[in-house]
Order: sequence, then structure tokens, then C-alpha cells
Amino acid sequence: MGVLELLPDSAAIEDGELALGGVRATALADELGTPLVVYCEQTLRARARAYREAAPAATVLYGSKAFPNLALLALFAEEGLGADVSTLGELELALRAGVPGERIVVHGNNKSDEELRRAAEADVWLVVLDAEDEVERAAAAGVRRVLVRVTPGIDPDTHDAIKTGHRGSKFGLPPEQALPAVARARELGLDVQGLHVHLGSQLLDVSPARFSVDWLAGFAAECRSELDWTPAVVDVGGGLGIRYTETDAAPSIDGFARTIVDRVERAWTLQGLPAPKVVFEPGRSLVGEAGVTLYRVGVVKRSSDTTTYVAVDGGMSDNPRPQLYEARFSCLLANRAGEAASGTYTVCGKHCESGDVLVERARLPEPVRGDLLAVAATGAYTLAMASNYNAVPRPAAALVGDGAARLIRRRETLDDLLALET
Ligand SMILES: Cc1ncc(COP(=O)(O)O)c(C=O)c1O
Repeated sequence: MGVLELLPDSAAIEDGELALGGVRATALADELGTPLVVYCEQTLRARARAYREAAPAATVLYGSKAFPNLALLALFAEEGLGADVSTLGELELALRAGVPGERIVVHGNNKSDEELRRAAEADVWLVVLDAEDEVERAAAAGVRRVLVRVTPGIDPDTHDAIKTGHRGSKFGLPPEQALPAVARARELGLDVQGLHVHLGSQLLDVSPARFSVDWLAGFAAECRSELDWTPAVVDVGGGLGIRYTETDAAPSIDGFARTIVDRVERAWTLQGLPAPKVVFEPGRSLVGEAGVTLYRVGVVKRSSDTTTYVAVDGGMSDNPRPQLYEARFSCLLANRAGEAASGTYTVCGKHCESGDVLVERARLPEPVRGDLLAVAATGAYTLAMASNYNAVPRPAAALVGDGAARLIRRRETLDDLLALET
């Protein structure tokens, strides 16, 4: 199977070519250009349903930072999901996508007054307090319902840059500050509905999340004895990892969500606390595997006895994850998907840095100029983190399903870039 098992659910090989959602990759590239991030509707809906079915009593919010996009937010809203937003921009997108305010949770480690006011005005379900001074500022901005984000001091096994629940994190409050924050927020008349914890992203092991639930139950018990207050809502954040390479192993959504829900029930019962409402905020595990980026191959260059570069028409500007987190990806030639690999290649981008490498050791049939290269599992934190490095316009995104494609983010143009210049 190889790379194919990392592709979206609808991926198929038709006459030796990759097809996604019933549309040939070559047709997508011809019609919409490259680089192009293609999202598979079937996969997006299946991942959303997997969370909903595994945890029917929980609220599931799309961690929209993974790819803040109107079409995806609207699609997830149709599936009964809400949105976790962390900036004014993400909040506006969620509102314009039609996500009801009562299914929006507002995050951010440095919320502006404008962000707090807009959250209050939109009457979002919850604002997650992330700093001591935010308690007063949220109350002054007219925010009503809040959670307090607490950092349990748990260090999960993932890249340092995407850990968030450890001691010394820039996010949330350590327990000795979180408890007074709950008390102060209540004094100010805020409806403190519960607690939030998010350990980090791309977690391939469920145990730290399980442990964080036990920890939270202990903290909730402390809140009861110190403040005579117990959390009615427990938001466990996102974090579930996905497979980027054939050797990765990731827990299923079903297994992960059931484990957390069961653990909350058990840990809360053990503490003698009333069962809380559980909230999940998945980003990567909803959209990561649904996305595939198509690039056009340009220069193929043998630079040493051991390295042959295959340069594509994008790179670190549309996918900075290899530079940021040493992330690894997998790829195939979409227009020659039936051919056996004949060599090992380094897939690089077109940017002015040697670190602009998308796939380190790709096994491919010998690529030639004009081939179409498909990089798997690029639906999360790629286009969302895209830049205009080297004055390269950002790519388009399309949604495919039932044999049709729909543009969901248009390609940026040079005119868009020039419009910013004075
Ligand atoms: C508070 C919060 N919730 C949810 C997420 C989504 O995480 P993931 O994409 O790993 O599921 C993040 C991402 O870091 C986050 O910071």
C-alpha cells in the first residue's frame, strides 16, 4: 500500500493516476493550477462523525487554526461541530461561516480588548481565560461565560514547539494562579463554567491526555474544597496526532475520544464530583489527513552521488512544518501513481534557503519536469501557516467530492501582494 494509505479516504488510482473525491489530480492541477491544497469532503465528514459517534454527549469544536476557512467551518457546522478560535480573524471566519455563537469558544494567550469585546458582542459560548489580567479585562469587555485554562505541568512526547501544557508554558495558568483566577472571576460576576487544558499537538500516545484528565479531576476537587465551586465543563483541548509517514502509528479518533470520555467519568466519580460536560477541540485530526498538496515538478538535479533534488513550484512558503518542527512528509507522483519507485529523491521547494525541503527521502519513479507531485497529509497547519517568502503568492485550496471540485480559497495573485505596497 505505501503512501496510498496516508491519503484521504476517497483516494484511488484510475488508469495509473491519482484521483481524489472522484477527480483526477491532473485535472485539478490543469484547472486550478499548482500548488493546490486539495481537501477530501468524505474524509472531513468521516473524521467529524468519528468524534461525534465516539463521544455523543461531548461538544466537539473544530480547532480552526489548523486551517481557518469558511467552507470547512461551514461543513463542520453542518456535522454539528462548533469552532475553537484564537484570534479576531478566526472568530470572524467562524461567525461568517454560520457557526452559531453558542458553539464558539474563544482562545488566545494575548487577547486584545477588541477581541474580548467582539467575543462578548457575538455572545460566544465561552472565552477561555489565559492570564491573570484577562479576568478583569474580560469582565470589563462584557464577556459572560468563561473557562480558566490551566497548565498541569505535563510534558507529552511531541516537538517542543507544539507542547503547551508543561510547566513554564506561555499558555494558561499554573494551578497556583488558576485557582485564584477562578475565585476572582466569580467575584467579578463572570459565569465560570469550567476548566480547560491542552497538552500540545501531534500526540501519538494517549497516556499523557489520560493522565491530564486524572490531574484535572484532582484540581477540580481542590477547587471544590477551596472555593466551593466545581467545573461543569471540562475542555480537554485538541492534540490527537495523525500519520505522516508509513512508519507512524496514531491512535484512532474513536479510541482516543472514548478513552478520554471514559476517563473523565471515572476520575470525576472517584473524586465524588458531578459529571461535567466534555469538550474536544481537534484540529489536525479533523483536517490533516483530508488534505493533499499538488505541486508541479520543475528542475530535477543530481547534486552529489547520494542526492538528487526534485524541485517543486512551492515549498516552505506553503508548508513551513519541516523547518518549524522537523516534520516529515510522504509523497507520490500523482500522474504516474501506478509506476514502481526506482530511486530515492529529495523533494525541495523553490525558496532561497537550503532548509526548504519538503520530503527528505522520497521513493519515486524517476521524476521529470512537468510531473505532478502529491504530498500527503497536508491539510493541517500548512496553508494556515503559509507566508509570502520570496514574494510568492499563497496557493489555492479546493474541496473535492462526488466527482466534482470546488475552489474554497482562491490563489493569491501578484496584484494581491502589490496592493499591500505603498
Ligand atoms: C487551545 C487549543 N485547542 C485545540 C488545538 C488544536 O490542536 P490539534 O490541531 O493538535 O488537534 C490547539 C492547537 O495547538 C490549541 O492550542
